[in-house]
Amino acid sequence: MRKLVVANWKMNPASVKEALDLFDKVKKKASTLKNVDTILAPPFAFLGELTCNYSGSKVSFASQDVFWEEGGSYTGEVSVSQIKSIGATYGIVGHSERRALGETDVDVNKKVLALIKEKVTPILCIGESSRDEHGEYLNFLQKEITEGLKSVSKNDIKRVVIAYEPIWAIGKSVRDAMKPDEMHEMKIFIQKTLSELYERSVVSKVPIIYGGSVEPDNARALLEGGEVDGFLVGHASLSVTEFNEILTIVNRA
Ligand code: 13P
Repeated sequence: MRKLVVANWKMNPASVKEALDLFDKVKKKASTLKNVDTILAPPFAFLGELTCNYSGSKVSFASQDVFWEEGGSYTGEVSVSQIKSIGATYGIVGHSERRALGETDVDVNKKVLALIKEKVTPILCIGESSRDEHGEYLNFLQKEITEGLKSVSKNDIKRVVIAYEPIWAIGKSVRDAMKPDEMHEMKIFIQKTLSELYERSVVSKVPIIYGGSVEPDNARALLEGGEVDGFLVGHASLSVTEFNEILTIVNRA
């Protein structure tokens, strides 16, 4: 499976000038890579500006969120056809920072279905806030997966990316990130949960990527030991040096 590296810029940078500068340096790097799909998820405010300034095929674009309705009186929301019309081919949904603002599994599912309908690839984020010794967090994750994918057909699941982002590992440093062997266990758990919903042959086609303090120092170990299909990178995606180094590592793996 080809590896994916998604840059989630979150609510950064502060100006379109900085966004274009960052984009310029990342796209140059991405154009040299053969084995990795680079996907940028800038804030909505810059998405159109970046896609307009890009005519190549080595970088794809994602929105950081999307609304499920096709149009109408929904102040502040952005529809799938709108992001698609400016060149986004992926949509992140269910990020823990959106869920923290009140988004439910039902909302996330509506967003997944809206993206699939328009043939935009959903990047479905799941992740527990903490772990307990009784394994309750596994039930929590199972629910996020099952409810997030409700009514997604076996044909469409092949076009979904699952991003596992344990909340306790987000925005920290390499020391606090998930360890490769733990990630490997989680990959198996996610695949097992998916195989309760879909045939195994289909499940093996669903990319499972990891997010939570991915930096150049842990990327290789997570890829090799964790057997992940790529990364969803937060803070390190705002540093040209760090992000480009992560791309190099993934490209070589
Ligand atoms: P960090 O890489 O900053 O931990 O963020 C991860 C994340 O939330 C990406 O969506």
